[in-house]
Amino acid sequence: MEKIWKGFPVAKKVYKTVKEEIDLMQDTPHLVIIQVGNDPASEFYVSNIQSKSKKVGIKVTLILENETISTNELKQHILRLNLDNTVHGIMVQKPLPLHIDNSEINKSIHPQKDVDGFHPTNLGNILLEEDSMIPSTPAAVIETAIYYGLSFGGKHVVILGRSTIVGKPLANLLLQKKDAANATVTICHSRTENVSDFTQKADILVAAIGKANYVKEEMIKKNSIILDVGVNLIKSGNEEQKYVGDVDYNSCFDKALAITPVPGGIGSVTTALLLQNVLKAYKNEKK
Ligand SMILES: NC(=O)c1ccc[n+]([C@@H]2O[C@H](COP(=O)([O-])OP(=O)(O)OC[C@H]3O[C@@H](n4cnc5c(N)ncnc54)[C@H](OP(=O)(O)O)[C@@H]3O)[C@@H](O)[C@H]2O)c1
Repeated sequence: MEKIWKGFPVAKKVYKTVKEEIDLMQDTPHLVIIQVGNDPASEFYVSNIQSKSKKVGIKVTLILENETISTNELKQHILRLNLDNTVHGIMVQKPLPLHIDNSEINKSIHPQKDVDGFHPTNLGNILLEEDSMIPSTPAAVIETAIYYGLSFGGKHVVILGRSTIVGKPLANLLLQKKDAANATVTICHSRTENVSDFTQKADILVAAIGKANYVKEEMIKKNSIILDVGVNLIKSGNEEQKYVGDVDYNSCFDKALAITPVPGGIGSVTTALLLQNVLKAYKNEKK
């Protein structure tokens, strides 16, 4: 088994599959991204989606909204896009300004066009093991692990973080009675006492808490698999900034059987799976 599970080859494989399928189609899948305000990290993420979309043959329309937009105005905009049959996928870039009701926005996107998979119908369908738009970050965790030959069946997976976009959907995906899942899952969160008691028992540890280098060598089990979702910007020497994960990579490296790097790990796979969802949304519309 490879030791460093890079995201690049996993993403490349997904992009290739998506492109090959689109190349055979008469039509072009169309994604609309709504970005509110001009957060630099959002701008970077959106421009990455635009360039990757172009490469695989997805049309992207970017709608820039002023950060003074109200929840209701944004919602009305989305409702119009829901009715537009030239639009297959809709994504609202997060984070949104604090005055906007995230939940209301997630609910207003038609579930079939909801490429982020945050609509209650899509999240609920994961619980029910029905066809769903799967949020791309938990999907990226599973896609990466499977690419490198990991089988979750019967394994104890400990997930740090219970967010609605990562921890909770991932836990429910891994609990499914499917070949790619069938794991025993423990979730830890900020109120969990003695987190190490759980992480030390994990065959597979997923960290998604947003705390730079939180997981240290003494917290993990020998020969466990470490999947790091965290993306944290920290100051390194000389006031330079760099991205690190929630796992202290250098500290855990020797003890782990395999580990994902940050950057260049799970995050690289996320955009590829978002575009896979755009293709799925297109196919949903044609059904
Ligand atoms: N790679 C990607 O594509 C991608 C995508 C999305 C997010 N991320 C990254 O993943 C990380 C998590 O993102 P998120 O949106 O899920 O964050 P979030 O909404 O802030 O949730 C963080 C979760 O971690 C829990 N937590 C905080 N401190 C903890 C601790 N010491 N021990 C155990 N649990 C703890 C919180 O518990 P409570 O619920 O009790 O508050 C919460 O459930 C961030 O670094 C983010 O940048 C990466």
